[in-house]
Amino acid sequence: MAKEKTRFECSSCGHSEPKWLGKCPDCGAWNSFIEIKPVKSAASHGRTAGNASKDGRNDSGPKKLSSIEISEGSRYSAGKTEVNRVLGGGVMRGSSVLVGGEPGIGKSTLMLQLCSSIEADGPVLYISGEESASQLKMRADRLGITREIEVLCETEINSIMRQVDRLKPVLIITDSVQTLYNTDLGMVAGTVNQIKFCSAELIDRARLYNCPVFLVAHVTKEGSIAGPKVLEHMVDTVLYFEHGASDVRLLRANKNRFGSIDEIGLFKMTETGLNQVDEPASLFLVKRKGEQPAGTCTAAVYEGSRVLMMEIQALTVPAKGGLSRVFSEKIDQRRVSRVAAVLEKNLSLRFSDQDIYVNVAGGIRIDEVGTDLPLALALYSARTGIQVPAGTACSGEISLAGEIMPVAHLDRRAKTALDMGFGRFISPENTSGLKDSINRIFGKN
Ligand code: TYD
Ligand code: MG
Repeated sequence: MAKEKTRFECSSCGHSEPKWLGKCPDCGAWNSFIEIKPVKSAASHGRTAGNASKDGRNDSGPKKLSSIEISEGSRYSAGKTEVNRVLGGGVMRGSSVLVGGEPGIGKSTLMLQLCSSIEADGPVLYISGEESASQLKMRADRLGITREIEVLCETEINSIMRQVDRLKPVLIITDSVQTLYNTDLGMVAGTVNQIKFCSAELIDRARLYNCPVFLVAHVTKEGSIAGPKVLEHMVDTVLYFEHGASDVRLLRANKNRFGSIDEIGLFKMTETGLNQVDEPASLFLVKRKGEQPAGTCTAAVYEGSRVLMMEIQALTVPAKGGLSRVFSEKIDQRRVSRVAAVLEKNLSLRFSDQDIYVNVAGGIRIDEVGTDLPLALALYSARTGIQVPAGTACSGEISLAGEIMPVAHLDRRAKTALDMGFGRFISPENTSGLKDSINRIFGKN
């Protein structure tokens, strides 16, 4: 076999070159190349080639579909409904889950709480490359965790694998993948190659022992760190932990081989860790003493399998130089532009000379067709200065012709709105078009 040569890899995007270069030809980063030594044979770093796993995953020949047995109880309950919800009904055994999020968002807290709450008998292993054992203990005490957890403060993957093989855990947490390294690949942790290689080892082991592995990864706001991104296609599930307003945290699945990706988990960060939210429907509602200002409208949004009431806020100001722009982070800018265009056409109200700002109170991103109508009402209200009457909520999709189209689960949306004290719910069922709903809500005829 030909002898493998040393390569140089861009630590920013993973591009590989036979010689060191000052600038990466792929992503343009400067001084990002690091030396990658050839990896020794598979046996030397403990890969499981040749070992047949319990479900026959590594058996060489094909199996008849009819002869394959489905293992019973293939999921562990996470012990927390919000985590179970996002994962599609519990933690799948043998699966790999990437947990990304900004530093400080609460990934380690969530993982430690999962170690304690998972309903699985056997050792749980927490591999910590970031915090010392005593720091972890202090955190566990603060969280009131009494379950025995095996804490391994180690970052060299072969040593970790030896401990995994010895312990045969029912759950493995790796916090974080960016701290892991394999000496064969050099001593620098966090390179794309190291992250891929070390994670592959852990994912292999998880399959072999039929236990779930969680890979924690730091991701910046732009999601720009290349390392964790390259893991997305290797793992079964990708979860992102995000900030909501103040102490609210959202857990979303970006990819899930074993469930839907529509569900979100809602938590509040408290002094004793992450707590589930009791009344999610009203979590994002803005509680005001006085009147509701112009430019705001409440939407009944269907997220995953539940209805959340959210306030959409809009502001329009004359555009400088007549060139209109849309500033909207929480709702897709194209949706805002489209709804504004339909309003302009149907109501002869100009938006094309305005800068449009849109926000969703509570900091949550919404990508749902039912937000068209509340968005239109918020924009209309912002542009005219007329308030949406108190106690009004709505849902509906708007067609380019200005019709209001039905959206899923209207009855559940209406019921939640009513339960939350909204006496009036405008929907495709009780309005004939955009012009009609605007006239009815804003008191024209
Ligand atoms: P952490 O889990 O360390 O975040 P990450 O692993 O994503 O970097 O949590 C960090 C923040 O959470 C930190 O600012 C302190 C806060 N926190 C609480 O408010 N309550 C708690 O019980 C714990 C453990 C942390
Ligand atoms: Mg952490």
